Amino acid sequence: MIKKGIILSGGMGTRMSPLTKAVNKQLLPIYDKPLIFYPLSILMLAKIKDILIIVNKGQLSQYKKIIPNGNNIGVNITYKEQSSPRGLPDAFILGQKFIGKDNVALILGDNFFYGQNLTKQLLNSVKLKKGAKIILHKVNKPELYGVAKIDKRKKVINIKEKPKKFLSDLAITGLYFFDNNVVNYAKKLKPSKRKELEIVDLINKYKKNKKLTADLIGRGGAWLDSGSIEDFYKTSSFVSAIENRQGFKIACLEEIALNNKWISKKEVKNAIQFYGNCEYSNYLKKLID
Ligand code: DAU
Repeated sequence: MIKKGIILSGGMGTRMSPLTKAVNKQLLPIYDKPLIFYPLSILMLAKIKDILIIVNKGQLSQYKKIIPNGNNIGVNITYKEQSSPRGLPDAFILGQKFIGKDNVALILGDNFFYGQNLTKQLLNSVKLKKGAKIILHKVNKPELYGVAKIDKRKKVINIKEKPKKFLSDLAITGLYFFDNNVVNYAKKLKPSKRKELEIVDLINKYKKNKKLTADLIGRGGAWLDSGSIEDFYKTSSFVSAIENRQGFKIACLEEIALNNKWISKKEVKNAIQFYGNCEYSNYLKKLID
């Protein structure tokens, strides 16, 4: 069982400047909550309680204002600063001590997932004992992502980061499950031409050893990107449409914790005090009435 998860939540956010000049991208709003709530909710739905959030240097105090520790949501949050965006595999180098001898999940701080089968799929993925698992989703513009080509039996036969020439329309989403070898593999990686450690190089190590599996999020599931300003608004509209139609919130952390029986009404009351008089608190009040 994977019980530890890392949220990689740094980066310069250059594509979203000037919005990101003073505020980290993952703290900007996706409709009614900061972006970071969404990947955090995914780890919580996967029943992962030990969480390391990697942020970029100088922005730790911003994060601590909104997620001081995991007390009110029943999780254990630790923070680590990344001095510069060295690439996604840096998460496992910076996280070596946190990971220890365990297996680990990684989610990128700007990734949004939603769908009926999601929790089931997550609970299945955290059962990983050996090897690595990636999660794929069909997209219209695969050239913007890491991409995987699979055969009829869903075996991964090729992977490439942002291929210029068409390889497959299956994007590798920013949610990964790894066994403990990931730390050593990450440490041995060499920077690519764009001077970053590449997640596809890391995944390729598992592929070479025949230890890579892939799962697909079908068309009933949504994987949305928050890479650009346009994407931010599109994802916000999606959340707004669902929440206002159903009256349920997506990624309400206290609600997930309550459902997981990690917290009681007392912590929800604390959370209401913490957030103050706002719509999010009104939703929390309804949960415990
Ligand atoms: O979103 C999925 C895609 O994420 C994958 O399909 C690609 O294979 C993977 O390389 C990645 O591509 P991006 O171009 O979207 O990665 P980006 O550099 O934008 O970083 C993603 C998030 O991780 C972002 O929130 C910033 C954070 N980050 C990134 C790097 C490189 C860090 O915190 N530290 C880093 O060193």
